[in-house]
Amino acid sequence: MGSFFSDNGDRNSLSSPPMKLRLVVCVLSLALSGVVSSLAADVMKGGPAKAAPLHKTFSLKTASFTLDFEVGDDGRLYQTPIGVTSADRKPQRIDEAYPQAGDGYIYEPAIQVVHADGNTSTALLFEGVTRTNEADGRELMRIQLRDPAYPFEVALCFRAQRDRDVVEQWTEICHQESGPVTLERMASASPAFSTNIFLTHFAGDWAKEMLSPITEQLTPGTKVLDSKIGMRAHQFGNPSFVLSLCGPPTENSGQVLAGSLAWSGSFALAFDHNGQRVRALCGVNPYASAYHLKPGETFVTPTMIWVWSGNGLGEMSRKFHAWARDFGIRDGHKTRSVLLNNWEATGFDFDFNRIVSLYDPAKEIGTELFLLDDGWFGNKYPRVNDHAGLGDWEPNRQRLPQGLAPLAAEANKHGLQFGIWIEPEMVNPKSELFDKHPDWVIRQPKRELELQRNQLTLDLTRPEVQTFEWQVISSTLGVPGISYAKWDCNRYLTQPGSSWLGPDRQSHLWIDYVHALYALMDKTAKAFPDTELMLCSGGGGRADYGALRYFHEFWPSDNTDPVARVAMQWDYSYFFPSMALAGHVTHWGKRPMHFACSVAMSARFGMDLDLVKLSAGDKAICAGAISAYKKIRDVTQLGDVYRLEPPHDAARGALNYVSPDRTRAVVFVFQLKDAEALPVHPQGLDPAKHYSVHELNPAPGRAALPQEGNALTGAELMQDGIVPCCAKAVEACVVELALTP
Ligand code: GLA
Repeated sequence: MGSFFSDNGDRNSLSSPPMKLRLVVCVLSLALSGVVSSLAADVMKGGPAKAAPLHKTFSLKTASFTLDFEVGDDGRLYQTPIGVTSADRKPQRIDEAYPQAGDGYIYEPAIQVVHADGNTSTALLFEGVTRTNEADGRELMRIQLRDPAYPFEVALCFRAQRDRDVVEQWTEICHQESGPVTLERMASASPAFSTNIFLTHFAGDWAKEMLSPITEQLTPGTKVLDSKIGMRAHQFGNPSFVLSLCGPPTENSGQVLAGSLAWSGSFALAFDHNGQRVRALCGVNPYASAYHLKPGETFVTPTMIWVWSGNGLGEMSRKFHAWARDFGIRDGHKTRSVLLNNWEATGFDFDFNRIVSLYDPAKEIGTELFLLDDGWFGNKYPRVNDHAGLGDWEPNRQRLPQGLAPLAAEANKHGLQFGIWIEPEMVNPKSELFDKHPDWVIRQPKRELELQRNQLTLDLTRPEVQTFEWQVISSTLGVPGISYAKWDCNRYLTQPGSSWLGPDRQSHLWIDYVHALYALMDKTAKAFPDTELMLCSGGGGRADYGALRYFHEFWPSDNTDPVARVAMQWDYSYFFPSMALAGHVTHWGKRPMHFACSVAMSARFGMDLDLVKLSAGDKAICAGAISAYKKIRDVTQLGDVYRLEPPHDAARGALNYVSPDRTRAVVFVFQLKDAEALPVHPQGLDPAKHYSVHELNPAPGRAALPQEGNALTGAELMQDGIVPCCAKAVEACVVELALTP
């Protein structure tokens, strides 16, 4: 493997971390270990852009996806556009694999550089390609490119997982020029496509995350999905999309390619339609992010994850989820506990006795993990509301005189795991931390401080802040009995100034912040391997595979209205497995408890309710849902999803999960408007086998499922369907199918 390849002995296969600078000696030659293609020998090293004639081709292949490359007569690297047959085409500049600004390419470039001598052009010639078998069915391909006039190199890196049809792609940039080189643009990936392409993306807002999927045919011009808020991927969208060839995507047919950028900062996903080709340029947002790369440093872009399916969105998601369970999230093969959060029950208003009084009801109803939310810290400025105390992470002596340990111990005694809320990156101006270190915050000099939720972000590029945040995390998670944490992040960057970075490197803030954040998350995951971690960020701001690799799950939205969640969960499920999606039962929307529980059961089930105040009827429904959920969570969390009926603007939504061995399935039907109860048709069952039909946690007072107790073949169930016992708005029906002996 190349001497500057990122370590892959890590927990998962994402290049690790997704983007970083490595202070290694940049190897400006083909001194790559492993197999160097014979092409390398044919290519003129250095010299002018007109190299010896070459018509060499090579491909990146998975089971059903191929990316064809060709080295042109000019020595440049070309890619056959996806959706175009290679037979009748000759390489042209619009087909360059990784187009460079300033030397002839006139559309959106993948890379734009100011060299040490001020030259604003870059030319990249093919040097060689290496292929390394990392594991059975997993190959790393590195294509080495070099500027003939400068000691400046780019490696296009692809990790192809053959049977999964998954490709992780990133780019590494290094040089040995006489001084720093400024990277103005540095895409992770820049694949070219034919022009008949449809893009599906997900606009949103706070409490509306993933609620508005948009599918549009790309037309001439550049469509850009991006964010410019620095320390989280988004508030108004998600760095994930689907491209479909030859028409809008459908669930069970058609060629589709999912793309997701593993990056928790400002990103740009640009789709440049130049009339002849569409090029997707995916990576960090170049906006205000010029990066001064010193000689010998390597800039590693974040990883782009691509998942291909020739059979529509359903297969695409199942492949994506299987990859995520193995490589994208932590402990992807371990089912998650049922969680109870105190936030809705107590808000900021609690003390030791109040929290302990919640444990008996929590245990009785069947929850397994108690999460203590915000409000447990701060002494000089107690955290009794969101105006003060953030940054002062000592337990409040009045509320918790003995600290967190007895609370956790008491939970453990009740047979409950104990979790804790932290927001280590933030500070309230009204805090001891801010009194002591006003220069630790991200802000712009000479500008009035702009607060969001009364708080500011600590400048994680500053070493003292890194040490401080690690101390907060390690001392909190190190409390005996704590085995879960919700890592919150309730604001984003609006005044991106760092007193640490100095005048020349202000534009590094966006990128260096995320590097430092990943280093902290990585350290946390390694130091606390048995502690489960949830990402939360003003709702779903950190729903991305950059951060998720250190976490178990994310908070999809502050909106917990189950009606909204039906659509949100559907849309997140294109890219994320249900075990990564926290779904909590709350009173939001004032929906019937049975409906709220059923919707949460199709995600990672949790509750945020005051159990003491629940009516006996609702308590029984919750207890029934928890008990049913424990029986089926291995199917919903570890099984394959089949999206059956889209809920957007529809009378109902339906989906089912199937266990990997196809012996069990769970069907969910969520009624959103009054309508006739038509059969729902599950998918993915073994057609020849018999399954017994059983409704889980039926809603009180409703007629039994017509097929309750029947044993039907998979074929019958899939063809004739199951008639659900829900027909009115906000009714739900959850049906278990289990192979009969
Ligand atoms: C955010 C989260 C809530 C809760 C509060 C605590 O708003 O979304 O669930 O944790 O912070 O302040």
